[in-house]
Amino acid sequence: MKTWQAMSSFPVSKNVSRMQSSATMAAMQAAQTLRAAGVNVCDFGAGEPDFDTPENIKQAATAAMKAGRTKYTSAGGIREIQRAIIDFYQREFETEFQPSEVMATAGGKQAIFNAVVTLIDPGDEVLIPKPYWVTFPEVVVFAGGTPVFIETEETDFVLNVEQVERAITARTKLIILNSPSNPSGRVLPPNEFRRIMELTTERGIYVVSDECYLRFVYPPAEVFSAASLPTELRARLCIAGSFSKTYAMTGWRVGYALAPADWTKAMLKVQGHSTSNTNSIAQWAAVEALNGPQDSVARMLAEYTARRAWLLPALCDIPGISCAQPEGAFYAFPDVRGCLKNGMKTSADFAQRLLEEEHTVVTDGAGFGAEGHVRISYATSIERIKEGVGRIRRLAEKINA
Ligand SMILES: Cc1ncc(COP(=O)(O)O)c(C=O)c1O
Repeated sequence: MKTWQAMSSFPVSKNVSRMQSSATMAAMQAAQTLRAAGVNVCDFGAGEPDFDTPENIKQAATAAMKAGRTKYTSAGGIREIQRAIIDFYQREFETEFQPSEVMATAGGKQAIFNAVVTLIDPGDEVLIPKPYWVTFPEVVVFAGGTPVFIETEETDFVLNVEQVERAITARTKLIILNSPSNPSGRVLPPNEFRRIMELTTERGIYVVSDECYLRFVYPPAEVFSAASLPTELRARLCIAGSFSKTYAMTGWRVGYALAPADWTKAMLKVQGHSTSNTNSIAQWAAVEALNGPQDSVARMLAEYTARRAWLLPALCDIPGISCAQPEGAFYAFPDVRGCLKNGMKTSADFAQRLLEEEHTVVTDGAGFGAEGHVRISYATSIERIKEGVGRIRRLAEKINA
């Protein structure tokens, strides 16, 4: 009898064969397996808020269901979500977008996917500063493009215009920026952002600005959106935004793209033939998220601020570990090379020992293009952070004894 296994030589397409599986998913899987076995796990792997979605947002979803708002919407989303996004940018950054420049997507991820696949042809080069969010190179590869990585370690993972300029070739079509950054938490200073946008405008290079962590920035770093730049610097810009982190809505799958009308039109074509619209109920919830009270965002930011204030000095005090100050998002990205000894060669080895000996999950930096580092998500309670850092210290002291 034939089984699925017997027929499993599935001819995966070349585009998909070239893609790597997600390193962040692997960390989540490892945590789940241990937890299922009853182990007391400290999980610094998850890239999502540990808070519940605010009540007013849930109620808006309930009301939408009761009102029968459960049907297809247009591919770019309901008028109300487009309006709420436009109003937000008007309010916060004094920039006026047109409905033809806005589309709702299934998370920021789909906005990035849409933006890349509508622009990139085989042979095109796409600049990606290191360390990068794991999805960026994979989407570029899927589209047939060539990722060209920019090293930023010499500037503590903060990109500058000279580094971008050195990486540009005649084939450069796009650069993907991400500030605040996942995994480093570093923030591109507004001045430098502007200089990079001036350079890309001058060279005719397109820009995707992934602003999914826009609202989680720690002073003195400043909240900055490329949307606030003058119109002439935005002619080749697509902003990818998300409700996932800001409103603790990762499972709802709502994000958006803001881009010139012709780019948006192409993205609508892709989305219309793939997922159609994002979930109609979640769109109504997102309208409430943007238009309703914002105190939950402030509360989450205050909590992340307190965790970060405890975490950073504690991490830097561990023998063999150093860490640049994250200025946004909810990640620290320590350098663990001082712990790579006695047979341990890579940050993956370090992460594995931490998992096996201390039941503590971190994500290996190699998947983000920064071997020698690990990502620690502090989207978990301060008690778990203290326990987990204690475990990391114990392993580091053992290694360095
Ligand atoms: C840098 C960055 N961009 C985009 C996303 C996508 O988020 P979502 O698709 O949930 O909006 C994430 C999620 O982890 C992220 O870290």
